[in-house]
Amino acid sequence: MTLQIGRSGLRLYPEYFGRKAQDAVLAALRGVLAAAPLFTPRMPKSGRPMSVAMSNCGPLGWISDERGYRYEPAHPRTGQPWPAIPDILTALWSDVAQYRDPPEACLINYYGAAAKMGLHQDRDEADFSAPVVSLSLGDSCLFRIGGARRGDPTRSFRLNSGDVLVLGGDARLAFHGVDRIYSNTSTLLAEGGRINLTMRRVSRAPSEIAGVRGASQPAASEAVNR
Ligand code: SIN
Ligand code: FE2
Repeated sequence: MTLQIGRSGLRLYPEYFGRKAQDAVLAALRGVLAAAPLFTPRMPKSGRPMSVAMSNCGPLGWISDERGYRYEPAHPRTGQPWPAIPDILTALWSDVAQYRDPPEACLINYYGAAAKMGLHQDRDEADFSAPVVSLSLGDSCLFRIGGARRGDPTRSFRLNSGDVLVLGGDARLAFHGVDRIYSNTSTLLAEGGRINLTMRRVSRAPSEIAGVRGASQPAASEAVNR
């Protein structure tokens, strides 16, 4: 079942993954996190630590520190390239993204009981025609989403383990955040808390560049950062 939430580009797939599939995603993620451990991102300029812990998989990973928000090809602590995005997640992207190219980044956010995420837009990507595909695992959270302007009215709903949310179209630049975690609402994570995965395109898609400028243009030279 898919729920279209108000605006056309926001789609919720409640419990897209049942428990068995959630266990399979988690097993794949444990492998990713063994190679690319969670780290504490810091706020641009102030360097204040965020309350979530993060890691990534895919060719690019999103990081934040005193120098700002950006995508990087390697883990900030280990210096190693991010592990590949597990097949079960690229399959999810193929199923729901309605976008022909694969995701380039999968951000892994871990929320302990007291963690939250302030209202923000995902806008460090060069191409907003691809959606952001989000998967929630573990404890439920109260998710908030508004419009493309910070002052726009917001609505809130719970995201539960296995739920998939797609922010595309007119919802691609919607402000969103996580107000709170509901502890002990899932038994998926032995340690408790919530994992959120967001898959994104970062650079402009090769297919799109080919379409705009002719196929002979080298896609590899496209800048991945702002
Ligand atoms: C994010 O916006 O990066 C995470 C959203 C969520 O945790 O559901
Ligand atoms: Fe976000």
